[in-house]
Amino acid sequence: MTRALAALYRLLYDGVLCRVPEPTAIALGQGALKLLPLDRLGAFRLEDPRLATTLGGVRLPNPLILAAQYYDPTILRRAMGLGFGAVTAKSITVNPRPGHPQPNLVRTRSAAGPGLVNCNGFQNPGLTAFRASLAGLAHRVPLIVSVAGESVQDYVTLVQALAPLGDLVEMNVSSPNTKLVYAWSERPQELRAVLETLGRLSPRPLSVKLSPDFAEVNERDIIPAALEAGVRMINYGNTRRIDEPRLSQRTGGLSGPDIFPATLENVRRTRKRFGDAVEIIATGGVDTPDKAVALLRAGARAVGYFTGFITRGPILARRILERLVREP
Ligand SMILES: Cc1cc2nc3c(=O)[nH]c(=O)nc-3n(C[C@H](O)[C@H](O)[C@H](O)COP(=O)(O)O)c2cc1C
Repeated sequence: MTRALAALYRLLYDGVLCRVPEPTAIALGQGALKLLPLDRLGAFRLEDPRLATTLGGVRLPNPLILAAQYYDPTILRRAMGLGFGAVTAKSITVNPRPGHPQPNLVRTRSAAGPGLVNCNGFQNPGLTAFRASLAGLAHRVPLIVSVAGESVQDYVTLVQALAPLGDLVEMNVSSPNTKLVYAWSERPQELRAVLETLGRLSPRPLSVKLSPDFAEVNERDIIPAALEAGVRMINYGNTRRIDEPRLSQRTGGLSGPDIFPATLENVRRTRKRFGDAVEIIATGGVDTPDKAVALLRAGARAVGYFTGFITRGPILARRILERLVREP
């Protein structure tokens, strides 16, 4: 059944979603997710107490996390019933942002498989509207709220307002398509001050989402600063910045299987260097059960993915969970 659904989705992705312009594919995909009550079907989930884990002391029914991209509450609600052990909402900024103009997302395909490059630019409704939209959302699994700011004050405002509505909070300092957020990794001393402040005031466990483009700074400055501030979770990580002439910004963040080798290396190195002091959420390039297993064996406590959800469909979570139950 799981295999048949996976094969069917491949036909849909290759035959339809890859053949229409990207904005149409997004509208079709998100429209279907909102309309179809897939979260009511047991086929996409696997509930087994052996899969449970914790992040920052919060219990997750399994170690799979939908990575940040969606802010629509209906989509978040659906995703919570599609096999994930936690769902991350899109990074929210203090004020609404229209995002970068079209084209801001293109498909890629390499020998490793299908991926995406985006320069979304944090298209989001802003703090006030997002907060109101979350009010009625039941947390069938933990919700991770993600915040993106350009100053200490931005992060303080965002965490104070949003943390109470989530179970965990993710601090995004790594999206490559807005200069000011990406530039945090170039100012590790200032970032240290943000971590210290948020470590003190966040009412929920915090994670910091790192850029794979800054491995040296991450491991020399940012992770040690996080640990000193009491922030023990890191999400390694975000997309990799590349030139992409088809995008309006001519540059964007690469996601999907081409970034998987770096994700695995980053997890291995971080685990070796920091031992059990950090809880690692490994994100970047997971689109098969084998890749999820490799990251968990390399020392990740949880595995996040977004592009695999698009290219392999909602059945990917169930495929990974079946594998984890078979080979813990
Ligand atoms: C269209 C798009 C929008 C994204 N928006 C966000 C975001 O708002 N915040 C964030 O932390 N990551 C964002 N990401 C990055 C993903 O959460 C994830 O870290 C990245 O895509 C690598 O994982 P993947 O290869 O499984 O997609 C976005 C990715 C894509 C493709």
